[in-house]
Amino acid sequence: MRSFLFVPADSDKKLSKAADAGADALILDLEDSVAPSRKETARAMARDYLMSAREGGPKICVRMNALDTPLWRDDLKSVVPHRPYAILIPKTLSGDCVKQVSAALADIEADTGLPAEGVRLFCVATETPASLFSLGTYAGASPRLFGLTWGAEDLAAALGARSNKNDAGVYTEPYRLARTLTLLGAVAAGVIPIDGVYKDFRDEAGLEREAREAARDGFTAKMAIHPAQVPVINRVFTPSEADVAHARAVVEAFDKAGDVGVVALDGVMLDIPHLKQARALIARAEAGQHTD
Ligand code: COA
Ligand code: MG
Repeated sequence: MRSFLFVPADSDKKLSKAADAGADALILDLEDSVAPSRKETARAMARDYLMSAREGGPKICVRMNALDTPLWRDDLKSVVPHRPYAILIPKTLSGDCVKQVSAALADIEADTGLPAEGVRLFCVATETPASLFSLGTYAGASPRLFGLTWGAEDLAAALGARSNKNDAGVYTEPYRLARTLTLLGAVAAGVIPIDGVYKDFRDEAGLEREAREAARDGFTAKMAIHPAQVPVINRVFTPSEADVAHARAVVEAFDKAGDVGVVALDGVMLDIPHLKQARALIARAEAGQHTD
């Protein structure tokens, strides 16, 4: 999965456009893009959307309200019986939050006769200052956990920051740290690192730059807030033909050399980490061909 498109769950218009945006997954939002007075409406609309979703469309996820609100349990009760692909937990503080939601999901699955652990989880794991100190705690939290992502907006609000970007439009240090810790925490936990949203949805060049930097560093997906962002994200996170050809050449060079730990290709030294990287990229490209 390369692209996750946020859709405020109380917007008929946006829900009606979402499935055709080309995203690998949708995130029907019950949290911060929905006004407090509209929470119940949003739950009902998310439920209807799940019930009428077509086969072969994007995977449908739902963002619940945070664990420190009185809303999240009712969010889960409304949507989980209709089998979303995953629940996105906002504002997690550590792997314990994943355990807490996983236990609540298990109760609903048992009550409604759904397969155990059928609904997956992912987290926005950097929205409070304290959460940055716990990004190493997600490993083993739950077999449901498949991804971690990060957000700069709530963190900036919590820090009382005037901005989270510098004059050149690049994230400043606290947010770079949040991004880096998310990448490391996700890979350490064996789940996918998903880059956060790019807010300026008319700035395609800026989005592409940020997405390329994320892909360069190891993120394998990025969230979107507007349909126009989806094709850019899909393109950037799909391994290019040139990337795949290079990866195949690396594997072939090792195959030809036999039982060795180091080879040379086009004047460049390659050792075992490069072979692992090449194999991972080929696997991702091949998986993409099956799911897209
Ligand atoms: N999902 C589905 N459709 C969307 C969409 C989204 N996230 N964002 C916009 N659209 C639709 C609009 O409804 C509009 O439809 P129309 O052509 O039938 O009028 C079309 O795409 C073009 O939208 P545009 O006019 O360019 O933007 P907008 O001013 O309507 O919306 C936002 C801008 C930012 C308010 C909107 O993109 C949005 O709500 N994004 C998601 C916000 C969110 O979920 N935030 C929480 C996570 S950070
Ligand atoms: Mg947020």
